[in-house]
Amino acid sequence: MPRAYGPRHVTERVIGPGASLPYDARMSLPSTVPDMFRLDGKVAIVTGASSGLGVAFAQGLAEAGADVVLGARRVDRLADTAKLVEAAGRKALCVATDVAKPEDCTSLVALAMEEFGHVDVLVNNAGIGTAVPATRESVEQFTNVIDVNLNGCYWMAQACGRVMGEGSSIINISSVLGITTAGLPQAAYAASKAGLNGLTRDLAQQWTGRKGIRVNSIAPGFFASEMTEQYPPGYLESQQGRIPAGRKGDPRELAAAVVFLASPAGGYVTGQTLAVDGGMTIT
Ligand SMILES: NC(=O)c1ccc[n+]([C@@H]2O[C@H](COP(=O)([O-])OP(=O)(O)OC[C@H]3O[C@@H](n4cnc5c(N)ncnc54)[C@H](OP(=O)(O)O)[C@@H]3O)[C@@H](O)[C@H]2O)c1
Repeated sequence: MPRAYGPRHVTERVIGPGASLPYDARMSLPSTVPDMFRLDGKVAIVTGASSGLGVAFAQGLAEAGADVVLGARRVDRLADTAKLVEAAGRKALCVATDVAKPEDCTSLVALAMEEFGHVDVLVNNAGIGTAVPATRESVEQFTNVIDVNLNGCYWMAQACGRVMGEGSSIINISSVLGITTAGLPQAAYAASKAGLNGLTRDLAQQWTGRKGIRVNSIAPGFFASEMTEQYPPGYLESQQGRIPAGRKGDPRELAAAVVFLASPAGGYVTGQTLAVDGGMTIT
């Protein structure tokens, strides 16, 4: 049965306490708790799926049953991720995307709609990291990080928010650097991730009641990726003492958190920033 994407049937537009709730939170849930983590029949978009954590997210979402739309600038690397999605028995669509360009974001979502007819999950994962002392950071360096890590998430969320139906989920990949500091000069990165947590709260209050779209962010601690390979020698080891779990995270542990928030298992969670950091932000 194709979904309808015409004008919404929602008539009440009041936002805030007392607003009507057209999204029926009592919608029928799967009968067992493990089934609540399934994403069969769903379509997920993952940005930054050409390396690192985005690859694990795409694979994890496919293993949970979703078809996955993969966006990043390096399409050759997206093709490798597509093979992992297909190996899990799901369909993949690769789209060359620079999330700093609003038109790329709208076109990624339009192509996803053309191919699959609906978009149910967005994982805003594309990001860049820099470490530059504040007095030496150029306008271009600072704005580049904000353009990708914060603005790019907003363009993607806007494009998805226009087509997503009830029960959809947006997951913004933030960072512990949006909550605390970690010994490197990272004003741009920290500002972008703290801003992303604010964006998460606001989109959740705009869309959860009115559109039935949940919006959350995840704040990862340290996970091995191309981004963390750029750290100075000995840096990760210097931070290890701050992590009660005493180790880096496994990207599969983060993918599991993404599947939780994407699926009916996370159906009553919205507007939150979930730290997946081995306890780093409590020390
Ligand atoms: N690894 C960690 O420990 C850690 C901790 C906290 C938060 N995070 C966050 O997790 C996310 C993924 O990072 P990662 O560690 O997996 O790093 P990564 O391996 O460097 O991956 C970054 C991804 O973002 C994509 N990207 C960068 N700029 C883009 C743009 N303008 N448009 C579209 N895609 C873009 C890259 O693809 P292309 O270059 O092909 O475009 C790549 O796929 C980031 O948001 C990062 O801030 C990571």
